[in-house]
Amino acid sequence: MKNLVILISGSGTNLQRIIDCIDNGEIRNVKVNLVIADRECFGLERAEKHNIQTQIIKRGKDFSEKLENAIPENTDLIVLAGFLSILKPEFCKKWEGKMINIHPALLPKFGGKGMWGHHVHNAVIEAEEKESGATVHFVTSGIDEGEIILQGKFDVEENDTAETLAQKVHQIEYDIFPKAIDLVLNK
Ligand code: GRF
Repeated sequence: MKNLVILISGSGTNLQRIIDCIDNGEIRNVKVNLVIADRECFGLERAEKHNIQTQIIKRGKDFSEKLENAIPENTDLIVLAGFLSILKPEFCKKWEGKMINIHPALLPKFGGKGMWGHHVHNAVIEAEEKESGATVHFVTSGIDEGEIILQGKFDVEENDTAETLAQKVHQIEYDIFPKAIDLVLNK
């Protein structure tokens, strides 16, 4: 059985999808040992409902060290599922090849510092992109620069807004995130 730690900052719909896919066997041979959030958020309630251990580590003094200490050594994969804090290069180095992130755009476009949530979708509309989507990638110290594991995409329509893009991207994420986790852990 592989051990997962999931890091979140928000409502945790991707976290929920991962939990459901472990339950229904779409992600095989895994258990979520711990969910860590960098703030109070609804995702923590989702985890607790499934009897998963949770911890809040707020940004500020010694954030990286506290995070480092909280992650059990037997962790096979750290999953960033809507985690909005930047991780230190040393942390990324330690977990290289064992930490993945989901990004709400088609990397390498629309990634990097400041590119999160509605900022990404507004930039996609501004650039008059023909398509958008989501990317699961390995985490390295370069923000959104690690090797791509899976992408899914859709056509951007004339009347799409940042809100409608966010909804469509989420649907893609629910499809590719569990597949990517299963791929990385059970290849
Ligand atoms: C997702 O769109 C993800 O790409 C981004 O943050 C969002 C998290 O959504 N990094 P949720 O909390 O899983 O609903």
